Amino acid sequence: MLPLFVAETDFPLAPAITATLARAVELGDTGYTPPQPGIREAFTDFAQRRFGWTVNPARIRTTCDVMMGVVELLRRVIEPGDRVITNPPVYPPFEMCVEEAGGVVDRVPLRESAAGWELDLAGIEASLAAGARAVLLCNPHNPTGTVHSREHLAALAELAERYGASVVSDEIHAPSTQPGAAFVPFVSVSDAAARVGFAVTSASKAFNLAGLKCALIVTAGDGPTAIVDGLPPEVEWRTGLFGAMAAVAAFAPESDAWLDSLLAALDENRRLLAQLLEEHLPGARYRIPDAGFLAWVDLGALGWGDDPSARILEEARVAFNPGPSFGPEGAGYVRINFGCSPEVLREAVARAGALLRA
Ligand SMILES: Cc1ncc(COP(=O)(O)O)c(C=O)c1O
Repeated sequence: MLPLFVAETDFPLAPAITATLARAVELGDTGYTPPQPGIREAFTDFAQRRFGWTVNPARIRTTCDVMMGVVELLRRVIEPGDRVITNPPVYPPFEMCVEEAGGVVDRVPLRESAAGWELDLAGIEASLAAGARAVLLCNPHNPTGTVHSREHLAALAELAERYGASVVSDEIHAPSTQPGAAFVPFVSVSDAAARVGFAVTSASKAFNLAGLKCALIVTAGDGPTAIVDGLPPEVEWRTGLFGAMAAVAAFAPESDAWLDSLLAALDENRRLLAQLLEEHLPGARYRIPDAGFLAWVDLGALGWGDDPSARILEEARVAFNPGPSFGPEGAGYVRINFGCSPEVLREAVARAGALLRA
């Protein structure tokens, strides 16, 4: 079975990360995470270099992972039973997190325009006007790989402020934004965004560190910073030591060359996938993503039902993610992880394509 589903990549780690972790193991440095493991400085520098984003290091906190950060923030900006807007198709745990925080999911699907996937601002405004208290944004968006535009983010911030709502922006895929696309950190987009927004991010997707447990919460305005400062200290203590060490190494300038080579490999694969789909699965619809290593592919025209991944798994022994798990908008879709070698990608799509000829 070829596994192209869980959001991990198959590439060797950045050498600075391997060296840091190996050294820690050699030393037996496996205890608690120190209060200031160096992430604030490392991320501030990374954000400036890679995104042109000036972050105040005093407004950075760490926690165990992005989804825990999201839940803890939502708990503080909503009351039990409040509605939280999500934009499906979206990373399935978003719904679980809203519920874990005591909220109710208010689904405002992305819209597909000729230019690509985008936020439905009118739909979001309608939900905010009807009382939704928060937006759980995914930027870049999983599964579509959309990097939301500056204009849309600024408009979202204005709407949120007008209706007294908060925006929690999951930016875990930002470090793997392709050079041709401009990732705009939500809290940096305007003064209004700084007043209503929280970013939650990590080195864990681009650098493949998800098991090590370290994420960052970043704010830019006094109100959101006070909320983060009011989180229980345990939220920060849950940061994994190896995750913290690996994040410092990932965000360091010496890992830039590795990150650039990752982006180059993903760029080749995202384009290769378009060719492979045309060759083996004609009728598939796919927009090349601007960030990350996940592809959102519409196989609805093939007549394989709402969940084409089931047949592909059963008969071709290739695991893609089922589209419907991202919301009803995912009927007929699969999500393909192309963070692998071109050979694995070729083999996976060819195997799925063989079902068409069978
Ligand atoms: C958009 C998004 N957010 C969060 C996560 C999970 O992050 P964490 O393991 O840090 O909770 C993923 C994992 O793929 C993701 O794609």
